[in-house]
Formats: sequence, structure tokens, C-alpha cells
Amino acid sequence: MKNTMTKLFAVLTLMAFTVLACQQEQKAPETEKTATSDPHSFSRPSEARGTHLDLELYVHFDRKELEGVARWTVEAAADATEIVFDTRQMHIDRVTVGEAENPVDFTLGEEDPLLGQVLRVPLPEYRKPSDKINIYYRTLPEAAALGWMEPEMTAGKKLPFLFTQGQAILTRTWIPCQDSPGLRITYTAQVTVPGGMMAVMSAENPQEKSGDGVYSFRMEQPIPPYLIALAVGDIAFKSVGPRTGVYAEPVLLDKAAWEFADMENMLTTAEGLYGPYDWGRYDLIVLPPGFPFGGMENPRLTFATPTILAGDRSLVSLVAHELAHSWSGNLVTNATWNDFWLNEGFTVYFERRIMEALYGLDYTNMLELLEYRELLDEIEYLGPESPDTRLKLDLAGRDPDEGMTDIAYQKGAAFLKMLEQTAGRERFDAFLKAWFDKHKFTSVTTEDFLAFLRENLLDKYQLEANVDEWVYQPGLPGNCPVPESDRFSKVEAQARAAMEKLPDTSGWTSHEWVHFVRNLPKEISPQRLQELDRAFQLSNTGNSELLAAWLETAIRRGYLAEVQPQLESFLTSMGRRRFLMPLYTALVDTGELDLARSIFAKAKDSYHAVSANSVEKLLDEAGQQ
Ligand code: BES
Ligand code: ZN
Repeated sequence: MKNTMTKLFAVLTLMAFTVLACQQEQKAPETEKTATSDPHSFSRPSEARGTHLDLELYVHFDRKELEGVARWTVEAAADATEIVFDTRQMHIDRVTVGEAENPVDFTLGEEDPLLGQVLRVPLPEYRKPSDKINIYYRTLPEAAALGWMEPEMTAGKKLPFLFTQGQAILTRTWIPCQDSPGLRITYTAQVTVPGGMMAVMSAENPQEKSGDGVYSFRMEQPIPPYLIALAVGDIAFKSVGPRTGVYAEPVLLDKAAWEFADMENMLTTAEGLYGPYDWGRYDLIVLPPGFPFGGMENPRLTFATPTILAGDRSLVSLVAHELAHSWSGNLVTNATWNDFWLNEGFTVYFERRIMEALYGLDYTNMLELLEYRELLDEIEYLGPESPDTRLKLDLAGRDPDEGMTDIAYQKGAAFLKMLEQTAGRERFDAFLKAWFDKHKFTSVTTEDFLAFLRENLLDKYQLEANVDEWVYQPGLPGNCPVPESDRFSKVEAQARAAMEKLPDTSGWTSHEWVHFVRNLPKEISPQRLQELDRAFQLSNTGNSELLAAWLETAIRRGYLAEVQPQLESFLTSMGRRRFLMPLYTALVDTGELDLARSIFAKAKDSYHAVSANSVEKLLDEAGQQ
């Protein structure tokens, strides 16, 4: 059975691949940027590519090392002489071919600080097509994908924890692979961990600890390598619905299951919008606070920060977001990181549709307006003429992380909303459903989407839309939908009046609080901030979004001295980049570089490399000015 499935998927992947290749031929040369020309991968998939991975790994917490073998099933063109993989921050012990494990002479290229080292494996002529390429390797302790958390950095404080973060180009630091989002693979894994720990992956998962520390996984649907993920620690499982559940450290499990009780509803709502969920189960794991993101959409198992455990379910839109990626991103994937808005813009739009269906338009409008303001700030920060404010990016030679701005997320979602308004919701929903259905398990470019859009929506209904301006021009087009929220208008009035009187906050959600804090007048005095703080205990809020907004306002309005203990404790107790960057930036902007440096020195070891590197860069650049 397993073998038939594997073969079936190999065939499907090959078909998908052929479809992509054919589509490419019909296009103008400048749009030929699909699977074969990813500027962030060394691989040459048209010559030879890995289609299936069998991974065997041992997790060594003592040396912060993964050790094992990646066995690749390879599909090669008749005249291919080698297969090329991406690697970075790892040691390759040996490479062999086939079950006989015949050694082959591999070569490793020069280290590129961003892309790593190319691994070239010659394909011997006598190789049978079924022969796997076996790469024996060890990761380095500094491998950027790997978050090795000491026991003190976990909730239970007894056992260490490991999680991986593959997106965008970090999977190559823990698995030798062809690390491009334009390529899809199936995988199995056998992972051996120390006794008493559980391993989970972006695959079919255990719900209980094994007696011997050995766990087996299978991911039958083809996924791009950035979605391969692993977490190991003192992990337990609790079901919240027939197809949904939560993994967390035992001390957090009940709290997490309560917070995310709506997961099953979200799943059925999402299916009602854009078609069946194709991945089997949908679970979520709450990671230690060192996780650098809010959430990561690893298939079947979203990875999430514990900072969304607000105790009042106020931050669950993040779950809707990561769930939505099961369609936009995981089912239909951006072919290169230049097309990142296809992943994130679609997902933000979809997330809002789920939130609207479950919690109503009023609530969703507030979220949208908060994020619209963030988009305006982002455009001001990047500069309205900056090429980085275009939806279609050009990230060749740069870290794809630089494309992770509100442009992809919010301008992307606004573009789709504009299209929705142009076509009407009913037509647009049918169009999106068809888009997902026709492109499932493939990777697509911006140009693929635009062609599909013209044919299946604009031309079909004879509609006009300034599509090229939205996608290829910088800034925000004049017909950008501006979200409105009555509740926020009232909050703004209260914020303006906050110099004279305390706000009437009855019935406020945490979103209203965040909006209030962000809209306090620039000239508000530290004394007045202190009065607000005393009245509403803002510095002690358990809502991480509100705390981050409040602390930033406090720093920028001269109220730092009073909130310094809370600021230090926040910055040293979690590593989520969305919170770290604005707060360190506010410190730098207000001449508090020394304080920023001393907090960073204490916190650094508990941050994941993704966050530590971003903060370090910020502080270094500030030091040079
Ligand atoms: N896929 C992203 C996270 C990501 C993007 C990691 C690019 C690495 C490179 C994830 O879906 C995401 O967008 N997370 C957001 C939360 C979301 C609710 C906007 C985050 O972590 O802040
Ligand atoms: Zn996302």
C-alpha cells in the first residue's frame, strides 16, 4: 500500500512538474521564473531532482546536533550526470548510492553566506533509477533552522526543546535538499530522541510518547522543503475536535486547548469557503517562547508562539491565518520568494473571511483597520517609490526574509479585496475556489495567477481592474479599499481626549485597547501615561499585542523609566521578531542604544537565530551612525 501511494505521488508530482514546464513554454521570456529559476537555490531540477525523501535522524541535545542520513529518490533526465543539492551549516560525512551503499565522490562548493554550499553528487552510469542517493550528515550547532532551547527556556523547565524553522531558505541547514518552494517532495522520517520526549513533524503524528524514543512519520502529500518541520520536547496532546487538536508542554496543555477550542469550527468554515481540507488532521503545537514567529503553517501541524495564549481567545486570528495557509501556501505555493505575496496576501484575505464568518464583520473590521495602518506605516518606512513596495519582488542576491513586509501581507490582501469588490463576492469566491482546485499541489508564479485572473474573472465578466499597477508598481493604488470601523472611530475620539479624561472602556476588546494606545496624542505627557497605566494596568497586561503596543508608546513618549522592568522582562522572555524589532527600534530611535545592547546581551541566547540576527543587525547599524 505504502509503495503504491509513494509511486502514485511520484507520478502526480511528475505530472505537476510537466504542467509547470509546459506553462512556462507559452510565456514571454521575462516571466519564465518558475520552478527552474529560483534565485535562492543552487539546484537544477530540470536535470535531476529529488522527488521523495526518507530521513533517519538522531537528536543529540548535548551537542546540539542532528545526525543521520537523507535518502533521496531521484528523477533524472537521460543525459544528467549529477544531482545538485543545497546545504548550509552542516557537515557531510559521506554519500552513497543504492541499497548496496556504493560510495560516490561528492563535492561541496564554496560557502555563500546566504545560500550556503552547493553539494554536487555525480550520478553513476550504472545507477538503477530506483537507487536512492544516501547523504550521511551532521548539522552544526549554529544551524539557522534549529532552535535548541535549554530547559530554562521552556515552560516545564526540566527538559530541553528543539524546533525547526524552514521558511524561507533554512531547511538546507538541517536537511541536504533542493531547497526551492517551486519543488515538491513527499517524505518519511524516523527520528530517535532521548527517553521521555516526544517528536512531532509536519506529517502524520503520534499522540502519545513512545517507549523507546523512536518515532516514525509519513507525509504523503507533496510539499516544498520549507514546510518540512520537526519539534522535540516534553510534549503532550489534547484533542479539541474530530480532526483537530493541540500539542504543548504538559503544564500548558489545558490552557492551550481552551484558547484554541474553535479550531474545528475554523476548519469547517475554511472548507465551506474554498473547498475540502486536503491534509487529513489539523493540529497546532505551542512552542517555547524562543520561537521567532507568531505562527508557521507547517502542514498538518501549525507551529505557534506561546505569546498568543492571552487567556481570552483574543489572538486566535493567528490560528485562522496559519490554517488558511493549508490552501494558500501549502496547497498552492509561491514558486519563488519573489512571489511571496501569493502565499501571504491570499492568506491574510482568507484569514479575514474565516474571522468574519465566525466572529462577525465588526470584529474583523477592527483587525483589518489595525493592519491597514501598519501597511501605511510600512510604505512610509520603505518609501512609496521603493521597489520593495511592489507585490512582485526582486529578491535575487538578497535574503528572502527582506520580502517579509506588510506589502506581501497587507497590500496583497487589499489587492484581493479590491478584486472582490470589483467582481462581487459570489463570483470572486467561486473564482478563488477554482484557483485552488486547479492548482492544488503545484507551485505558481505571480504571472500564472494574473493569467488565471484575466481568463476566469476579468475577461469572463468583462471587468476592468488596474491589475498591473497593483502588482508591478510601487506604493498603494488610489482604489485601495480603506477599512472602516465605527468602534475604532469612537476609540480614536477617546484617545484624542485622553489628555483630559480617562477613556470609557466598557465593552472594549483587546483590539480597541491596541488601537487606543497607538492613537494616543504625540504630545501626551509621561505623567498622563502613568495615570493611564495606574488606572488600567497596561504595563501588566497578559495580552502580548497590547503589551508590545504599550511599551513602544511608553518608550517613544518618555515614559521608559517606569516601564523598564516590564520591558526587560518582555524582551528576555520571548523571541518573537514581530515584537522584538519595533521595541529595539524604539530604543535606538530615542537614544537608548546602550540599554538596548545590554538587554540584548542578556536575551540573545534565548532567541532563535532568525531573531538574534535581525536584532544584532539593527544594533550594529545603529552603532555605526
Ligand atoms: N509563513 C509565515 C511566517 C514566515 C514568513 C516565516 C516568512 C518565515 C519567512 C506565517 O504564516 C506568518 O505569516 N506568521 C505571522 C503571523 C500572521 C498572523 C500574520 C507572524 O509570525 O507574525
Ligand atoms: Zn502567513
